[in-house]
Amino acid sequence: MTQALSLPNRDKTVEEAFLPSQAEGRLLAFDSGIGGLGVVAALRRHLPLAGIDYLADTALFPYGEQDDAVLSRHIVTLIDRAIETIRPDAVVIACNTASTLALTALREKRPDIPFIGCVPAVRWAARISQSRVIGLLATRATVRRPYVAALHEQYAPDCTLVAYGARYLADYAEAVFRGETIDPELMRQEAMGLFGQPNGERIDAVALGCTHYTFLVEALRAVSPPHVAWLDPANAVARQTASVLEARVMKDMPLKETNRLWFTAPPKDSALLEEHLLPFGYSHAGLWKPRSL
Ligand code: DGL
Repeated sequence: MTQALSLPNRDKTVEEAFLPSQAEGRLLAFDSGIGGLGVVAALRRHLPLAGIDYLADTALFPYGEQDDAVLSRHIVTLIDRAIETIRPDAVVIACNTASTLALTALREKRPDIPFIGCVPAVRWAARISQSRVIGLLATRATVRRPYVAALHEQYAPDCTLVAYGARYLADYAEAVFRGETIDPELMRQEAMGLFGQPNGERIDAVALGCTHYTFLVEALRAVSPPHVAWLDPANAVARQTASVLEARVMKDMPLKETNRLWFTAPPKDSALLEEHLLPFGYSHAGLWKPRSL
């Protein structure tokens, strides 16, 4: 069954309050698949004059199931090459699994380029939680990272953090993006991975720790306790990107050669996928072949 795709959820309180930035510039946004397009939607609202190229590393999807050392080397090599080819003013790592693993290595490798990462909204969850029990929903790789333990220690020391590393949610998000509907029982099983843990019933705020989950918020909400707040950091990433572009001296490159989208390997159901790219500003998906660009 297919359904129309609506753009990812918008944080109305934030949206009502902001004026879009007038900054121009070329961005490269990066993820393992479609997840980062939720961040792109936020970038387009906050930075309507910026050009945004998008690279999806479908060859290694799902990132959450890859070996850390292999993945880190791979990401650094791929992004370094992409920077050489595309010459962006800033790179948005629109993927928590990549950010929590490789952001430091990327900044060391390319100190000439600002990187904006995505990290789970643990701090935000701690700020709004009444019960002082917060949830984290992320890939299995992100959940086991010391980065997350450090976020908890630094920003939510008085909160109990209940984390669930989900094996299948990123795949479900890829399917939902293509217009499919996921069996609510499968969604319920994933939600139970979080709320079924000790203290899980006391969770009142969940930090989304994987950009793919932006496309699952409504499906998750439908099978979870109704009082829970689902926190998507996409708008915060867009605001941070806007302040980076506003502070940067731009390269003098024509903006028309931008708003391109590539995959590193042909993705599943690529024709179906392409149909849903237009609302994000992409009319065509290409295969990533840096030499031919
Ligand atoms: N979108 C990615 C993230 O934010 C990960 C999905 C995956 O490839 O496992 O973590």
